Amino acid sequence: MRALLTVTISATCLMAMVSVSKADPAAGQAVFKAKECVACHYTEGPAREKTIEDQLAKKGPELWYAGDKFQAEWLAGWLADPKPIRPMKFNSLTEENAGDHPALGAEESATVAEFLMSLTSGEVEAGTVKVKKNAKGRQIFTKKMPCSGCHQYTGRKKVIAGGRSGPSLVDAGVRLNADWILAYLKKPEVFKPVKMMPVFVGLLSDKDMANVASYVGNFKPKKKK
Ligand code: HEC
Ligand code: HEC
Repeated sequence: MRALLTVTISATCLMAMVSVSKADPAAGQAVFKAKECVACHYTEGPAREKTIEDQLAKKGPELWYAGDKFQAEWLAGWLADPKPIRPMKFNSLTEENAGDHPALGAEESATVAEFLMSLTSGEVEAGTVKVKKNAKGRQIFTKKMPCSGCHQYTGRKKVIAGGRSGPSLVDAGVRLNADWILAYLKKPEVFKPVKMMPVFVGLLSDKDMANVASYVGNFKPKKKK
């Protein structure tokens, strides 16, 4: 009996240790500082931008709600091998994105991703959006409120369609959390108080916002046959 108890206790301790070393945001935060990521990104909420000048002074997107916005697996992969997200340079409508974002090693990427995934706003309800081929959402995205006027996506015959002024939404279902997309559409003032994107509150019902978030959340690379 005592032996069994000891085994159980040490197994529990081991599990606790493993879970601590697996999710240690402080370690990732230290790397984030050491690698000068702080020069271009802020990680403490709430949103600091009050005027358009504040927005234009930023050298990179705010990351204080990264854990709401991104999918963990995508994030770790992107930090190691960053490919352009915005077709245009950050805060520019005329210059192309040079694709020169600093890259981290595999281990650092995993650690920093853990730190960033620990940052949340408390304003995103999990499990509200069911990601699917959403005909209503598609209609809103491509016709009614043409989101596609500013965002690239994979259109018919796998051709990249859409505008280039906003971040690309090609394969956004792998990158973004659909529940965050809905929260952003509903409460732009929380996430982006200086609005570079039109506000859809009052133009789209909550239900239609959920439809379009469901549609965008389903943007995924086609599986190879
Ligand atoms: C010189 C400024 C600069 C530095 C330094 C920098 N970034 Fe960035 N970061 C940017 C810009 C600009 C973008 C937008 C890139 C794009 O759209 O392709 C970005 C995008 C990101 C994104 C995606 C955010 C989003 O909303 O699309 C993450 C995550 C990120 N950076 C993390 C980091 C980490 C971690 C470091 C440190 C290793 C770092 N960055 C260093 C400027 C910077
Ligand atoms: C007039 C251009 C424009 C239209 C129309 C537009 N957007 Fe945007 N969108 C933007 C810009 C610009 C950003 C970046 C905002 C920022 O970071 O401040 C953005 C950001 C986003 C993001 C976050 C992407 C990321 O990686 O940060 C999503 C998701 C999004 N838009 C979805 C939509 C949907 C859905 C619609 C239609 C209901 C829409 N947009 C219509 C310009 C637009």
